[in-house]
Amino acid sequence: MTVHAHITGWGKFVPPCVVTNDDLAQMVDTSDGWIRTRTGIAERRIAADGETTSYMSLQAARQALEVAGLSPSQLDLIIVATVTPDHAFPATACLVQDGLGATRAAAFDLSAGCTGFIYGLSVAADLVASGAYENALVIGAETLSRIVDWSDRATCVLFGDGAGAIVLQANGANGGVLSTVLGSDGSGCELLCLPAGGSKEPASQRTLDEGLHYLKMEGRQVFRFAARAMPTATRQVLERAGLTLSDLKLVIPHQANQRIIEASTRSLGLPAEVVYSNLERYGNTSAASIPIALCEAVDEGRVEQDDLIVCVGFGAGLTWGAAAIRWSMPLPPELPSPWERVLRQLRYRYASLRSLVRRFVRWLFALGVKE
Ligand code: COA
Repeated sequence: MTVHAHITGWGKFVPPCVVTNDDLAQMVDTSDGWIRTRTGIAERRIAADGETTSYMSLQAARQALEVAGLSPSQLDLIIVATVTPDHAFPATACLVQDGLGATRAAAFDLSAGCTGFIYGLSVAADLVASGAYENALVIGAETLSRIVDWSDRATCVLFGDGAGAIVLQANGANGGVLSTVLGSDGSGCELLCLPAGGSKEPASQRTLDEGLHYLKMEGRQVFRFAARAMPTATRQVLERAGLTLSDLKLVIPHQANQRIIEASTRSLGLPAEVVYSNLERYGNTSAASIPIALCEAVDEGRVEQDDLIVCVGFGAGLTWGAAAIRWSMPLPPELPSPWERVLRQLRYRYASLRSLVRRFVRWLFALGVKE
């Protein structure tokens, strides 16, 4: 029997702290008018101290599992797409695995810039469709505010924090993820990068003094690349699925700049209402932008059963990618009963307890080895 990867759960988390364009105008030489007209952004969410990438991932993941009606122990795979992991290693996905109590899941992070979620979705969908795994969790999550130079007006106005997650499940029914395309061009690696902190430029007093631990971007060049990459990837993914632009119900593009979204929409000859945008409220949340937008589009009733959706992104690398999805879930989804909710809360408490016990036992063993 042919198996397909279906999206059966979705969830998001955005930090409560809202920073408006006027707030930024108090910090750098900019204005609400400039930011709105050049980017379409009005405000963004900024993570508080405890709101790390793993924390936000966990909140989004719990929601997605709840919608899917799946328990964490049923997960086979967790992928976190991010350029702002909690640590260089271990993977943020492992922290999510521990927080969820996903006892039999493989877990890894994936770095493909703002295209990370599409890369994760593509890898997970292929693993599910191949029969290797049955249930996968794909998360896009970022705390870009931690790597943004808050004195650089050319970049600090663009980015925000947040996380989005989906559950993919194997099913014999037609639909789900129909096709994906992924691309890369490393010759553009300097156009959008974090210069220091890796093996090329280990963190040092000099890298700190020169601000090399902050995100750097050639805005105009990235703009030109994005305006070409999005329509091309959209056409390719539809072609691969044997479909055309006229079959499309909704495009969910990476939310980087409203002018890039509009240029891509024009180039594809699509009406504006077919292309989803929530950029105004969140700015560019990198790998989190597409899953957050997908959740909101579903919540707003923009997606119905059997609709064809294309998610399309571009980002650091340079990378680009798209996924064509036939929405197979009935909407609205059946939400869990209050009793099921209580059970889930208990399960997460148990996951925390289990993690503590495992740490304690490891500590005891370490003591024993010393003695
Ligand atoms: N407020 C006010 N002025 C600003 C500003 C700000 N926040 N940022 C830049 N400027 C100024 C520049 O200094 C420049 O001034 P100058 O002409 O006196 O030198 C002027 O505005 C124009 O700058 P420019 O960079 O040409 O603007 P732009 O129209 O290209 O818009 C971006 C800049 C960053 C908004 C745009 O290039 C962009 O969105 N690029 C893509 C970025 C992206 O998507 N990155 C993520 C990829 S995943």
